[in-house]
Amino acid sequence: MKNILVTGGAGFIGSNFIHYMLGAYPDIRIVNVDVLTYAGNPENLIAVQDDPRYVFLHADIGDTAKMKAAFADYDIDTVIHFAAESHVDRSITDPDIFARTNVMGTLNLLNCAKAAWQIGDDQYREGVRYVQVSTDEVYGSLGAEGFFTETTPLSPHSPYSASKASADLFVKAYADTYKLPVCITRCSNNYGPYQFPEKLIPLILRNTLMHKELPVYGDGLQVRDWLYVEDHCRAIDLVARQGRLGEVYNVGGHNERTNIQIVKTIIDYVREKADPTVGEHLIRHVTDRKGHDRRYGIDPTKIHEELGWLPTTTFEVGIRKTLQWYLDNPEWVEHVTSGAYLAYYDKMYGNR
Ligand code: NAD
Ligand code: DAU
Repeated sequence: MKNILVTGGAGFIGSNFIHYMLGAYPDIRIVNVDVLTYAGNPENLIAVQDDPRYVFLHADIGDTAKMKAAFADYDIDTVIHFAAESHVDRSITDPDIFARTNVMGTLNLLNCAKAAWQIGDDQYREGVRYVQVSTDEVYGSLGAEGFFTETTPLSPHSPYSASKASADLFVKAYADTYKLPVCITRCSNNYGPYQFPEKLIPLILRNTLMHKELPVYGDGLQVRDWLYVEDHCRAIDLVARQGRLGEVYNVGGHNERTNIQIVKTIIDYVREKADPTVGEHLIRHVTDRKGHDRRYGIDPTKIHEELGWLPTTTFEVGIRKTLQWYLDNPEWVEHVTSGAYLAYYDKMYGNR
């Protein structure tokens, strides 16, 4: 693993992954392909932009010519595919772009990897690998008991999860049909630095600091299984190096919380660290998300037993680190929430 094509590296998890990898390995090169949608932010990568091991290519993963050139120009041996439309609410109002990027973009990337790496019928260059960064949402929703395992049937509900499940099936088809060396990871909800404030944690934090209403969808008792982003990055790195080809690995740290618990945790932190006047009076229960999945919970036994992965950051430590990062970086929040963000917020929450 030497020349790594990271797609969507200017987004939340991708940028954390690039920081993690360049910190961990002196002898790699990372080529970051990102088209810089609203969610892609070059500011996330200021610390590495002058690193000789880092290359940025401003390109769409659906652009075949540019992707083929990237494989050839940089002798790519590993693909870590993060690039996606990632926000469920946006997929409900504008599903088409989710199919274009998440399904057709992935298909294009698979074709380019296959063309670049194939040396004979069902044969590929030594040591090459494609990792699809997927999500637990492809499994649908759980009741009060049980966890998603790698054999849980796919049952996506939102246009976002349908597009991710479709992409996963194309990846599997390329492994089954052409023997392309692939792995798939399916992780639960991430939190940490550089997350765009359309997602629950940074959105609620920003609103709390501004004394704005805190929009909780429905009863707020939906459950998400939270993982600190760096633990996800370590899992992806392990799968890329040691995962068995053709396999799926679920990633999660058994940190289930209801949404209302998360909101209250954020209020408490802000009250303690920044503003004693904020409180639960800011919470407002708003119209629920359409088709809202009730509960996610990951069984990470496979990645633990096969690859030795365990999360290293507890939720209690990770959430405080995360919230403090946003408090310490108000200019980052300010930059990403000017302009288009305000229009988005108004459209999504104005009449809710
Ligand atoms: P994000 O929305 O923060 O970032 C997505 C990135 O992809 C952005 O930099 C964007 O500019 C880029 N991108 C979008 N369309 C592109 C295209 N056509 N060509 C090139 N680049 C493009 O997303 P994220 O939260 O960092 O998620 C990254 C990946 O991880 C996604 O595939 C997502 O499905 C998956 N995932 C996310 C979570 C989570 O909790 N955020 C959990 C599990 C899996
Ligand atoms: O499970 C992994 C998935 O986690 C990833 O695949 C997705 O890319 C990522 O966006 C995330 O999806 P969720 O829909 O779970 O995340 P989100 O932050 O949008 O919402 C978390 C929960 O909080 C969800 O139950 C909806 C609720 N919510 C969200 C927002 C933005 C609210 O109650 N109010 C809000 O304003």
